[in-house]
Amino acid sequence: MSVSKKKHKRVTTNVLRTLKERGEKIAMLTAYDYSMARIVDDAGVEVILVGDSASNVMAGHETTLPITLNQMIYHASSVVKAVKRALIVVDLPFGTYQGNSKLALRSAIRIMKESGAHSVKLEGGREIKDSIERVLTAGVPVMGHLGLTPQSIYKFGTYTVRAKEEEEAEKLIRDAKMLEKIGCFGIVLEKIPAALAKQVTESVSIPIIGIGAGPHVDGQVLVLHDVLGITQEFQPRFLRRYLNLYDDIKGALSRYVEDVKLGDFPNEKEQY
Ligand code: KIV
Repeated sequence: MSVSKKKHKRVTTNVLRTLKERGEKIAMLTAYDYSMARIVDDAGVEVILVGDSASNVMAGHETTLPITLNQMIYHASSVVKAVKRALIVVDLPFGTYQGNSKLALRSAIRIMKESGAHSVKLEGGREIKDSIERVLTAGVPVMGHLGLTPQSIYKFGTYTVRAKEEEEAEKLIRDAKMLEKIGCFGIVLEKIPAALAKQVTESVSIPIIGIGAGPHVDGQVLVLHDVLGITQEFQPRFLRRYLNLYDDIKGALSRYVEDVKLGDFPNEKEQY
């Protein structure tokens, strides 16, 4: 059991800041449903992200763009029912906050009211500053997301590493400082050079959570289905798989099919 797990009952945004100050790493994972969220929470992660990656791993879409606010609320409310300890962050989906701060506020309030989650995450920097500020004024904690922001995939054109060039790296640092200044409680940095992530982490007092951003950040986040080896095609360098559940589940289910076909299931003890 980690030090943080023993000391804190509910993880709050203040707890995350304390962990950063103490130099204790923060573990964050995604979850989208009740059953998995229970396991993720029990495993001791500090933050559970109801990510719009649900669009990929739960709904089978190629990108995160199609998922709707109602669908995010459905996933988030399932997760909320399961979680006792972790802070729950919910992604505002594409089209529910960009360029319209009133819409952003309405979307964030719907998530908080209808799911019972604790905070929201928005992708982008200066270009969505108004939206973030408006959400913050309602008392909704906001996490930022910079670097590779999958909702902008059609602008980038590829999922390759971001901010390798000086101009983009400088903008990213400026955006991180701006997010801290306006009151975000943390920032996800996705797929950027490790040296840049280190520089950002040292320049702000709020926790920086990396995904494909190297080790010199305050914590790490991964997509649950990737960690468990349920997704097979997705094999980026930054991913560490802890299980190969695709093969394990397939093997178990093939045995079930065989037992049914052979008439071995149910046996005498498995009936009334
Ligand atoms: O939607 C998601 O899962 C995310 C993580 C990749 C950080 O935003």
